[in-house]
Amino acid sequence: MSGGGANAAAAAEVGGGGGKEGRAGGELRNAQRTFDLIRRHFSPRLALTGSFAGRGAVEVGAEGCRVTLSDGRSVLDFGSYAVPLLGHRHPAVVAGVRRALDTLPTATRSLANPVTARAAATLVEYFESALPKVYFGLNGADAVEVAVKLARLASGRGRILAVRGGFHGKSTGALALTHSPLFRAGLRGSVIDVAHADPEDTGAVERAAVSGELAAVVFEPVQGENGVVPLPVAVLRRWCADARRYGAFVIADEIQCGLRRCGERSLALAEGLPVDAVLVGKPLGGGVVPLSAVVCSEELYAPLEADPFLHSATFGGHPLACAALPPALAAIEQLAAHGEVLSGALSEGLTRLRGRHADAVREVRGRGLLWGLDYATPHLAGEVVLGLADAGLLVSPCLSRPTTVRLLPSLACGPPEVAEALAALEHATATAAARCAER
Ligand SMILES: Cc1ncc(COP(=O)(O)O)c(C=O)c1O
Repeated sequence: MSGGGANAAAAAEVGGGGGKEGRAGGELRNAQRTFDLIRRHFSPRLALTGSFAGRGAVEVGAEGCRVTLSDGRSVLDFGSYAVPLLGHRHPAVVAGVRRALDTLPTATRSLANPVTARAAATLVEYFESALPKVYFGLNGADAVEVAVKLARLASGRGRILAVRGGFHGKSTGALALTHSPLFRAGLRGSVIDVAHADPEDTGAVERAAVSGELAAVVFEPVQGENGVVPLPVAVLRRWCADARRYGAFVIADEIQCGLRRCGERSLALAEGLPVDAVLVGKPLGGGVVPLSAVVCSEELYAPLEADPFLHSATFGGHPLACAALPPALAAIEQLAAHGEVLSGALSEGLTRLRGRHADAVREVRGRGLLWGLDYATPHLAGEVVLGLADAGLLVSPCLSRPTTVRLLPSLACGPPEVAEALAALEHATATAAARCAER
């Protein structure tokens, strides 16, 4: 795998000057220094996982679907936790952000900002729905926090119903909705009254709402962090109807699966589910800047309309981030048909792979450009991830489901990159299965 011109230059810069030998030595020292700093200032475990993923090298540049490493290699990015849907450094997004950088990169927050206002209007138009209100955050958890706060305020009720296996972020309020106990270890209690419904339990919302205490039901149409699990649409439809009947809000968390990651702008809206809010994040900033949003109904937003300072943050709606939104959404739409072609090739290839390795690969789940390969054991999945790192394919493991290897290709890929990823998966699966069988 080769690096692009600008990225090769970046790798050389990290490596320092001098001849080939000097560069290689400099590059190694530089990578080691990065791992030392991460060990010292963040965590030894973080240094270790980074070192495994890069096989001792660190990331120094990226373009399109490839990330350049400090040792000069480049890896195919099927990971990055769903952020670079457009690939890295999409030119239109970079140009939009650069324009903001050169004019007014930060907001006074006292004066009105046209970049932020235009981003909100663009996002509302994009969904072509009856959801006219917007709150901008910096990451997914921000959007979850605000949506839940609004639901509690607007309904005057306290209880939230989330879903087993759901992931909504790790900040204190969002964490209350996240199901896995893994992220709550050592923490007692919860700041919000949350129950978790079984995703097959059709009557869960009705039972939770009948007492009149349910503020909202919150779900991911496709659970990403839980190993790529699409929720049954018939159940979601009934949940929405019951929530409406008992005066509770419906919030679709599409931070991972929305914005065409799974083919649709919004999965909930495409299914005609009567939701009060769609939450988006990850690729909303075009893979260049951090940005998330709550897009919601007048009714849910009412407390913020009455008092816009009820919930605000210094960097919320930051012009540098909002400048990325219009070009990002335009580019996602331009590439939507291409995404369907990639999705078809990937789906077919993964199904064939499962057929060839039925003992090792238990299940293939996914939609669009979000796929999970579920391996027979966590150990096998771990071996596969290491094999893929050797082959130069970056993937995103699922922390709360260690048997699943998650694949998040970008729209910057073409059929050759899908073929390359499938070949790497084939080899890594065969090798890991043989190695595990020997033990
Ligand atoms: C569905 C969903 N909601 C919320 C979040 C939290 O987003 P962030 O990590 O940006 O806070 C994530 C992150 O993976 C997610 O997948």
